[in-house]
Amino acid sequence: MIAPVKFGFKALSQFFKTHSYTSVIVLADENTIKHCLPLIKSSIPAFTLIRIKSGEKNKSLQTCEFIWQSLIKGKADRNSILINLGGGVITDIGGFCASSFMRGIDFIHIPTTIIGMADASIGGKTGIDFNGFKNMIGSFSQARLICIDFSLLKTLAQRQKVAASSELFKHALLQGSKEAKIHLSKSFKEFSNKEIENVIKKGVKFKTSLVTLDSKDKNIRAQLNLGHTLGHAYESYFLQSGRTLLHGEAIALGLLAETFIAHTYYQLPYQTFLNMVFWYDLNFIKPQLRQINFNSIESLVLKDKKVNKSEINMVLLEEEGKWKLEPITKTQIREALNFLAGF
Ligand SMILES: NC(=O)c1ccc[n+]([C@@H]2O[C@H](COP(=O)([O-])OP(=O)(O)OC[C@H]3O[C@@H](n4cnc5c(N)ncnc54)[C@H](O)[C@@H]3O)[C@@H](O)[C@H]2O)c1
Ligand SMILES: [Zn+2]
Repeated sequence: MIAPVKFGFKALSQFFKTHSYTSVIVLADENTIKHCLPLIKSSIPAFTLIRIKSGEKNKSLQTCEFIWQSLIKGKADRNSILINLGGGVITDIGGFCASSFMRGIDFIHIPTTIIGMADASIGGKTGIDFNGFKNMIGSFSQARLICIDFSLLKTLAQRQKVAASSELFKHALLQGSKEAKIHLSKSFKEFSNKEIENVIKKGVKFKTSLVTLDSKDKNIRAQLNLGHTLGHAYESYFLQSGRTLLHGEAIALGLLAETFIAHTYYQLPYQTFLNMVFWYDLNFIKPQLRQINFNSIESLVLKDKKVNKSEINMVLLEEEGKWKLEPITKTQIREALNFLAGF
């Protein structure tokens, strides 16, 4: 069964009226402690707080150890519950730590970013980065509740908002041209709060429908990896070299590169490829990619969890609303990386 998604903090107080725990622990980072914790305090019982540092580089085994040690120090037991209050980094690592602590304790996600609400908190994938590779260690574990309240987004930085548009555009591309058009009409910066809430709600509905049918990522859920084979490689590459590239920014690059492959080697219409370039330009300033070491990116792609027996299976768009899985060659990847470097 997949986790119920409820909108509004009321769902939190209702949950705790009907469930009792020996202790409640909140996991958050310095930003969500400052901006989000005050908003949820009145909806949850007395709690202890575990504070970790924000950022992808902290989605690590070292942080897990700190979280597990804090749980032990705080005398958490098997009937404790962990509330993950934050973006995708917090829900990924918090979900993983909860799912493995004492063989698994209950947890709730309260996503506080657009990516967290529309994507990361939904579907039960938890995990951390390991040995320089994204999401290498993790589990499929469902939260008891996912509580989304849009008031949390007020304090989210503009760069984070824009980066998140790539996951929303990915959902839209997979749903069809009508949805994709919404993202081509103007830059994401110009979306009103109401428009952002609407696309998040659509993303939640879309992702929930896929993971309900394929919770363990064996077939149709695979489409959500669109843009992620090359996107994750860029993200890991930047992470290893100490440069900042947000997850959503990496996925935007991945979408562009993978659409290049879909158009150059397969049937994706030229217009859809052009739309992708237009969308990228509308929202992002491309980072410097010329000095990138292609071999490193290639080896990162080969370590991706989507690679079976050295065959790189990539989700490619055939047209908006239609996708397929194709084995990709190293030459095609090189061509795509070259295209992005020179674009
Ligand atoms: N499990 C999944 O299915 C899944 C899906 C998509 C993405 N992800 C993961 O999610 C992560 C990216 O998530 P993200 O973009 O939310 O990043 P994030 O968790 O790093 O949050 C982005 C930044 O915003 C800050 N922040 C969060 N909420 C805030 C708020 N309301 N106000 C002010 N600041 C706030 C955070 O402290 C952080 O600095 C990646 O690690 C990615 O791999 C997982
Ligand atoms: Zn993603």
